[in-house]
Amino acid sequence: MPGIINWDELWKATHAGGFHHHGRDGQDLASHWDSKARGFNKRVMKNPARATNQVATLGLLSHETVLDVGAGTGRLAIPMARIARSVTALDQSKGMLACLEENMAKEGIENIRTIQKSWEELAEGEIELHDVVLSSNSLGVLNLRESLAKMDSMAKRAVYIFTFADRRRDDGFADFLRGGKRARHHFGGPADYLVIYNLLADMGIFADIKIMNWQSSEHYSSLDEAVAEWKEMHEIPAEREPELREFLSGKLTESDQGLCMHRHHKQAMISWQKDQPASEH
Ligand SMILES: C[S@@+](CC[C@H](N)C(=O)[O-])C[C@H]1O[C@@H](n2cnc3c(N)ncnc32)[C@H](O)[C@@H]1O
Repeated sequence: MPGIINWDELWKATHAGGFHHHGRDGQDLASHWDSKARGFNKRVMKNPARATNQVATLGLLSHETVLDVGAGTGRLAIPMARIARSVTALDQSKGMLACLEENMAKEGIENIRTIQKSWEELAEGEIELHDVVLSSNSLGVLNLRESLAKMDSMAKRAVYIFTFADRRRDDGFADFLRGGKRARHHFGGPADYLVIYNLLADMGIFADIKIMNWQSSEHYSSLDEAVAEWKEMHEIPAEREPELREFLSGKLTESDQGLCMHRHHKQAMISWQKDQPASEH
């Protein structure tokens, strides 16, 4: 039951502008990610240590099956498939799943099944239950209550949801990006994890929240390469290129692998275990 705040409606209101932060007007979420797939894949696959650490927090067992909602290019699906019995990778973007399949082939992974569909479109009962259901920065849904209820009912052991916790991100990056043509909707309303957590409580699901500090290093062979990647990833218009160049040159430092940028951010992990018996006092 909603209390004074209807978290489901609040989510709809604050996400009505779209889910991709810098997408082109009128572009749906699947085509947005289709056009971003190659660049995204290149960026995230450079940092396997972060994915391995994230997967380690799940406590996956070798007999378990995992449903990865919004699996993208398999950043987590691939390390999870190395531990679990099998992974079902659902994503609405054909381009992201094409990269995932290439990554599987490169890594010799055979226990991932892909499903190209949006989470809203997947009917309950269309696929079998999985031990673990996970979503990592991938809840591009307008009907949050319905989507969370589906995650809950399709999981046998546990559900894990990861979202960025600090919307301002780090060290002036968000401020720089906000100077661009988009990003407006991303700065209104409470952070996603607070809405998800409170809505779950209204639904009778008492989840845990863990805030994790991540540090990562991004490597570039030159300033030109960094500028090109950032321009593409964040759709920064050509007229802001000199500003972007100046901004990035202030962030990049020389390292033995070329130029390096250290980034920090906070990620929230919201999780709940299914059917946990109460302990006695
Ligand atoms: C930022 S990427 C994250 C990918 C991956 N989970 C990771 O952590 O690297 C977001 C992905 O979620 C997918 N996605 C977002 N909302 C979705 C939905 N409602 N149904 C299916 N896929 C969705 C997008 O297509 C995109 O591939």
